[in-house]
Amino acid sequence: MIDLNAAARRYPSVLVIGGTGFIGAHLVARLAAAGRRVIVPTRHASRSHRLSVLPTVEVVEADVHDVTVLTGLMARCNAVINLVGILHSRPGPTGSRYGQAFARAHVELPKKIASACLAAGVERYLHMSALGALVHGSSMYLRSKADGEAAVRDIIPAATIFQPSVVFGPQDQFLNLFASLQRFFPVMPLGGAEARFQPVYVGDVAQAFVNALEHPVTFGKTYQLGGPTVYTLRQLVMLAGEWSGHRRPIIGLPPLLARLQAFALEWVPGGPLMSRDNLDSMRQDNILSAPIDAELRMIPAALETHAPAYLARRA
Ligand SMILES: NC(=O)c1ccc[n+]([C@@H]2O[C@H](COP(=O)([O-])OP(=O)(O)OC[C@H]3O[C@@H](n4cnc5c(N)ncnc54)[C@H](OP(=O)(O)O)[C@@H]3O)[C@@H](O)[C@H]2O)c1
Repeated sequence: MIDLNAAARRYPSVLVIGGTGFIGAHLVARLAAAGRRVIVPTRHASRSHRLSVLPTVEVVEADVHDVTVLTGLMARCNAVINLVGILHSRPGPTGSRYGQAFARAHVELPKKIASACLAAGVERYLHMSALGALVHGSSMYLRSKADGEAAVRDIIPAATIFQPSVVFGPQDQFLNLFASLQRFFPVMPLGGAEARFQPVYVGDVAQAFVNALEHPVTFGKTYQLGGPTVYTLRQLVMLAGEWSGHRRPIIGLPPLLARLQAFALEWVPGGPLMSRDNLDSMRQDNILSAPIDAELRMIPAALETHAPAYLARRA
């Protein structure tokens, strides 16, 4: 068993960049529960009340792209976790591998963070990537995540990198989205219906970071994270419908229609619901190439353990 208090003594103060999001909220709560002081920079402090009420958590409004700001934050911590990620970016100029928004969030920012760690003498750095991150990956998202990993490794070889499949939990943007869509529409036209995923519970992803933080065997390693079961997208949409009480017929779309649908969904008010790049990501199966490494001491929960309850609450 890990002695959490000893670990907290080793890394008593952790900077969690991207800590206000879906996964971040779980991770920050667990770090705080283990007795650590946690600093969480955000662009919008007013939206982070849930975190700022935790006793050892300090939410600060800060521009983490500014190296001087980063250096100031690093001076107050012993370990850094970077969870920043986005799902959508316009394409870059012809010939570029991804758009500017992906380059900024997934490559340039990790580079700045890792360099700032080095300059500040912070040796422990954990980095969030994504399953399927490949230099020649099928989407801009996956290619930019791969370049971010490479940049991090180059600067801090001992960094620990995580690559989860799709993450589920009460505030997820995946099963909840498919549940909502089925509530309002009589049928579900679906692109990439046969793409395969291995959904992993948000609490397990958070715990993997907590376990790795102080565990030297994880230094310099990259870990894939997934749940116990592989599902097609069609199966996941069907389960989301069933568990939320609004199961609709699913119509798998051929590639051209799927692309047209994704293009249309890029323009919905309030931001893309889905993009052609998301569809490109699904050309690669999002499943683990091997079982989760035992040294992470993680027994992933099944989708059935958590998802039916939170999806039923939406009904
Ligand atoms: N959710 C999944 O299924 C899944 C699967 C695989 C990998 N991942 C990766 O896991 C990480 C966290 O995912 P999540 O679902 O928790 O994301 P999320 O809920 O969207 O949270 C994203 C976080 O990143 C910050 N952020 C976003 N854009 C930024 C920018 N341009 N500059 C600075 N900060 C920015 C946000 O901070 P503010 O407070 O400033 O808004 C927020 O804290 C991401 O790297 C994602 O790629 C997620």
